[in-house]
Amino acid sequence: MCGIVGYVGQRDATEVLLGGLARLEYRGYDSAGIAVQSERGFAVRKRSGPLPRLVSALAEDPARGTLGIGHTRWATHGAPSDTNAHPHSSEDGQVAIIHNGIIENYLGLRSELESAGHRFASETDSEVLVHLIEDAYRGDLVQAVRGALGRVRGAYALVVAHAAHRSIVAARTVSPLVLGVGAGEMFLASDVPALLPYTRQIVFLHDGDIAEIGESGYAVWALAGAPLQRSAVTVDWTSEAAERGGYPTFMLKEIYEQPAALLNTLGGRLHDESGEVVLELSTDPGRIDRIQIVACGTAYHAGLVGKYQIEQLARIPVEVEVASEYRYREPVVDPRTLVIAISQSGETIDTLEALRQARRGGAQLLAIVNAKGSSITREVGDVLYIHAGPEIGVASTKAYTAQLAAVLLLALWLGRSRGVLDAARGAEVLAELRRLPLLIEQVLQPERVQAVREVATRFASSRNYLFLGRGINAPSALEGALKLKEISYIHAEAYPAGEIKHGPIALVDSELPVFVVATAARLLDKTRSNIQEVAARRGQVIALLSDGDTLGVPVAAELRVPKTAELVSPLVNAIPLQLLAYYSAEALGRDADKPRNLAKSVTVE
Ligand code: AGP
Repeated sequence: MCGIVGYVGQRDATEVLLGGLARLEYRGYDSAGIAVQSERGFAVRKRSGPLPRLVSALAEDPARGTLGIGHTRWATHGAPSDTNAHPHSSEDGQVAIIHNGIIENYLGLRSELESAGHRFASETDSEVLVHLIEDAYRGDLVQAVRGALGRVRGAYALVVAHAAHRSIVAARTVSPLVLGVGAGEMFLASDVPALLPYTRQIVFLHDGDIAEIGESGYAVWALAGAPLQRSAVTVDWTSEAAERGGYPTFMLKEIYEQPAALLNTLGGRLHDESGEVVLELSTDPGRIDRIQIVACGTAYHAGLVGKYQIEQLARIPVEVEVASEYRYREPVVDPRTLVIAISQSGETIDTLEALRQARRGGAQLLAIVNAKGSSITREVGDVLYIHAGPEIGVASTKAYTAQLAAVLLLALWLGRSRGVLDAARGAEVLAELRRLPLLIEQVLQPERVQAVREVATRFASSRNYLFLGRGINAPSALEGALKLKEISYIHAEAYPAGEIKHGPIALVDSELPVFVVATAARLLDKTRSNIQEVAARRGQVIALLSDGDTLGVPVAAELRVPKTAELVSPLVNAIPLQLLAYYSAEALGRDADKPRNLAKSVTVE
């Protein structure tokens, strides 16, 4: 997650920017930087590492002014360095930008700009934007930003300042940005906490908005140009509520953070022109004969999905096992076995001990982790960070979808490196991965969320649920059941849909909601017959379908998600499953952030 702050007014901009970045510290730091407007252009100070490093750099070499932009990033990709830190400046020093997100087509744009004579200072995709804006600028900064954004594909939060303008331009798609309204001054930030010491008049920008802030106020347009009315609201949040971003719980905030979190998981790792995934791993794909994945809970479900992806794309046999079982048996491993641990916290003792067991057997070790520098990351040869940002809610949501994306990146990387996945198929899957942040945004649109909320409320008094799924979505059913159990305390079971007639169908009666993940067109006929079996016994079927698919069977409820490739469908299907659990818990008055008997990280055996 990144922290962005901007200011224009009469105050010392450096003080406002540093204070704002410090208040976003629950997002953590990996590099930080500010650009403050001066007579000649901008004073830019940026350092890799935590914010205090930037503060001491500014103590030695202050930046004075009353207009500026500031940025901090949590666990960025690639070697964080001073040059890769934001803000990025144009060659003439007149433009400074901050960007969070993915520029999907940056490689092509970069070579076009370099052949036109532009010289790049960093290896980031973001820097493309400052060169495009410099080229497009003819005196109107908003127009120049609009022109640059018209050239790029991707999702972003973008903030731009120009030496000749007493204003700052901001634009967002997927990644959040808010404006703060003051008297004779204006603020902007990626999240509300940064602004509360100065103002509680907040303007929440929407996807596709472009805004300009100045001392006299602000204006907002659609990217296409039409002026928009975005009124300020008064937020009376406490600072903790502000960290929840105004959401009632961290869990709901983290459900809605998933598009932005995915941008951070994917950012810097997808090169679609070449169809390649770039992962800084020392693991040699040629030295792997088989893979064992060890994890617990939701992370284990991510491993089950990963099995389908790795076996399909990299043609390596994969076993997935609950870590607490793996660690107590004598697993058969050797130096050509890659054991992968998946863990959000990186502290789960069962997963840690399973890794140690694998190491004793001589296996290669790799971890897919969220929490930087956690215990598990110190036990393995390679770490693939998911960059989902801090996950506070006990029930794992954004970390799950980020784990799924990370495993798919690994499957692509293994397949391409071993020469078993051709570039065309690799690029196809890559394009599907890129669509995900925007697709998940669509699943989080109010009407779709409301449809899930109505189903959750309708069945909240049920004593049991059954979840069914097929193929790569059989683990989705397991994850839906776990989410529901752990925060609403409703008992739930999950089965591969084809298994229901081998016993579980005896459970079906008119009191039993049966949630069927039926988004894969390829398997819809088969799943349709399972649904008919349940409906014939008066089971209350809740069918999760892809837009455009027709079930043709009368069911209690139909929920829909955008159509996606089967390989990435578990990431999209996770959202309605999370929301079903969340709104069931809400209907029952449960504490979704701190469910009974549970802890965020199970560091005891
Ligand atoms: C998931 O919602 C639960 N909180 C739990 O199953 C969790 O996934 C499990 O404890 C593993 O945690 P980890 O990812 O931090 O290792």
